[in-house]
Amino acid sequence: MPVITNVDDLHRIYKRRVPKMFYDYCQSGSWTEQTFRENETDFDKIRLRQRVAVDMTGRSVATQMVGRDVAMPVALAPVGLTGMQHADGEILAAKAAEAFGVPFTLSTMSICSIEDVAKRTKKPFWFQLYVMKDEEFVDNLIGRAKAAGCDALVLTLDLQILGQRHKDLKNGLSAPPKLTPATIANLMTKVGWGLQMSKTTRRTFGNIVGHAKGVSDTSSLSSWTAEQFDPKLDWDKVRRIKEKWGGKLILKGILDAEDARMALQVGADAIIVSNHGGRQLDGALSSIRMLPEIVDAVGSQVEVHMDGGIRSGQDVLKAMALGAKGTYIGRAFIYGLGAMGQEGVKHTLDVIHKELDVTMALCGERNIHDLGPHNLLVPKDFR
Ligand code: FNR
Repeated sequence: MPVITNVDDLHRIYKRRVPKMFYDYCQSGSWTEQTFRENETDFDKIRLRQRVAVDMTGRSVATQMVGRDVAMPVALAPVGLTGMQHADGEILAAKAAEAFGVPFTLSTMSICSIEDVAKRTKKPFWFQLYVMKDEEFVDNLIGRAKAAGCDALVLTLDLQILGQRHKDLKNGLSAPPKLTPATIANLMTKVGWGLQMSKTTRRTFGNIVGHAKGVSDTSSLSSWTAEQFDPKLDWDKVRRIKEKWGGKLILKGILDAEDARMALQVGADAIIVSNHGGRQLDGALSSIRMLPEIVDAVGSQVEVHMDGGIRSGQDVLKAMALGAKGTYIGRAFIYGLGAMGQEGVKHTLDVIHKELDVTMALCGERNIHDLGPHNLLVPKDFR
């Protein structure tokens, strides 16, 4: 068993284990991938202030996100096709999050359905909604999430139109994978993954197939998803969905102070400063760069969360010190999941927790709520 000391260790194992089509799906951004890269590298530009001779006993990184107690301010972000990274991936990730005491967010584009995850977990999880043109389907999904006991709806606003993801186009991404000479050759090198997959029947979009009009099997699925993302999504639709849902609402994909003010007006409980992990508008600034401006605009009135590029507890600390009240990890948990299933997601969470706790102590802080800009050295031209 290799010693896992950081998220990179899990990334290396993940890359060896999972077929290229699904590895590339995770490890890529849109167009030139500038935003995807900068989400990570911009964290490195922020440095930490070391403080000493402070009593470090009784430290705590526990807090709340939209009223829920969390062991640390880190939730698992919604990630489509998680069940292709590891058999039953969504269930395993949800179980790891539940055991650790952080929220799991199930994507609309998950392989395991809302009901699959609800059956195998005890605590409520969060559900992420993409707005589709078929309103009946959307209302149905909202009803299913409610029936499953989901206690927050994460409504994604930055995917009315799919960003161009060149690697997926080149690989002919699909779930289950279409068998071509190239995909067969690649799948044959990933025997462990294949054996895992053969143990589950969940290999396509469980929230959609059998629920959306005209989508009874995988053959009709790709054309349906390609044309269903709703380009008409506007703030009135957001209001309609909020009413229909009636519970905690988190708006995801906010990268502009004006949009943050609109989110406030429609009554969001939290917003996620996010560029979809660099998968939508390439050329947008990194989330960590945009965070301070949005915290300034609305941070005193609504919970501001952020995601994008978080690979360590140090990254979480920097986001919290810049005013975030919570963060999300996407790829970091997928690396763990693809590397070693539920145990791997636990490794990701353990590593991030340890890094956050130790870094906080070495910055001279005992409580996550005391972090602030005084802990950081931010370059003048950062924003
Ligand atoms: C995503 N993301 C995403 N977001 C969403 O709202 N619904 C989804 O189905 C997906 N699917 C998805 C797939 C993959 C492979 C990735 C990497 C990301 C975006 C995700 O929720 C989150 O915003 C980013 O992953 C955050 O960036 P990091 O942590 O991956 O750098």
